[in-house]
Amino acid sequence: MKKQPELITSRKLLFACLGICMTAALIRSAAAQAPAATPPPTPYSAAAEQGKGIFSSSCSFCHGSQATGTEQAPNLLRSPLVFQDHNGDSLGPFLKDGRPTLGMPAFPTLAPEQVQDISAFLHARIQEIRGTRLPETAMLVGDPKAGLAYFNGAGKCSTCHSATGDLAHIAAKTQPLALTTLFLTPPAKPIQVTVVLPSGQTVSGQLEYLDEFTVALVDADGAYRTFPRDRTKSVDVVDPLIAHKKLLPMYTDKDIHDLLAYLVTLK
Ligand code: HEC
Ligand code: HEC
Repeated sequence: MKKQPELITSRKLLFACLGICMTAALIRSAAAQAPAATPPPTPYSAAAEQGKGIFSSSCSFCHGSQATGTEQAPNLLRSPLVFQDHNGDSLGPFLKDGRPTLGMPAFPTLAPEQVQDISAFLHARIQEIRGTRLPETAMLVGDPKAGLAYFNGAGKCSTCHSATGDLAHIAAKTQPLALTTLFLTPPAKPIQVTVVLPSGQTVSGQLEYLDEFTVALVDADGAYRTFPRDRTKSVDVVDPLIAHKKLLPMYTDKDIHDLLAYLVTLK
């Protein structure tokens, strides 16, 4: 029964990963066009300091003291799992089981607070390497007019969004780098599902689980309901972010720069 949720998650992970890679590419290309500013080291929060200690005793042996990876183990600052983690919510379950067959040990005895501290440390490291202090102008190498054209044209953004509606003032609330991540990979939304039973009765709700045998959802009353798929007439899954997931591999670097240059005008 554990198989399919992993599949759903791994699609999410892939999505997040693409976001990181593209953001990284964007930062790289922006950085290439502006004189590099070396950000002064940011002081860590108390939790991140704690986490650093735990990390260096339990994890650094394989992942490196800076979490950037070694021959034995991957760079955790580019890990989709870490990227989508909030305060240990992904890291905790992962560390409980590890991936022993792939060389990642299980850490079943780590307390939730320790996992949260590790999470804080890894996110602090990600902030560091992202260069949050990159001069804002370094990012803005695109052409806002071309961005507007893309927004109304090829990107079809205007079919769902409006510069005077939901995206009004978005640039006043969000820094350029965060804005880039936001439009490349908007925060995950619950996936909706409608199940039609042989009787014709329909049941809708938030998708909790799906594989070839079973579909489970939480309905409007908050009840968890499971159906064997061979006793359903149809199962219709609607992912609100499907348009974004499809767009992600389509953008060229120029599209991203232009869109960002346009979006930052929405103050
Ligand atoms: C003995 C070596 C070793 C130690 C110690 C270790 N790891 Fe790993 N870790 C690995 C390997 C190898 C992988 C890659 C597994 C794979 O291919 O899926 C990995 C994968 C991971 C991933 C998943 C990366 C991704 O995106 O798929 C995370 C997160 C992670 N480790 C965190 C930790 C943390 C946190 C600790 C300390 C509490 C730790 N690891 C300790 C070897 C290690
Ligand atoms: C088919 C509909 C659809 C299309 C096309 C679409 N989006 Fe979205 N977009 C969404 C949905 C749904 C969300 C998540 C819901 C929300 O937060 O408003 C979202 C979220 C966003 C967000 C984050 C908003 C926030 O406040 O969190 C931005 C920015 C964004 N989209 C920009 C774009 C851009 C730029 C394009 C075109 C390149 C685009 N979208 C194309 C449906 C769409």
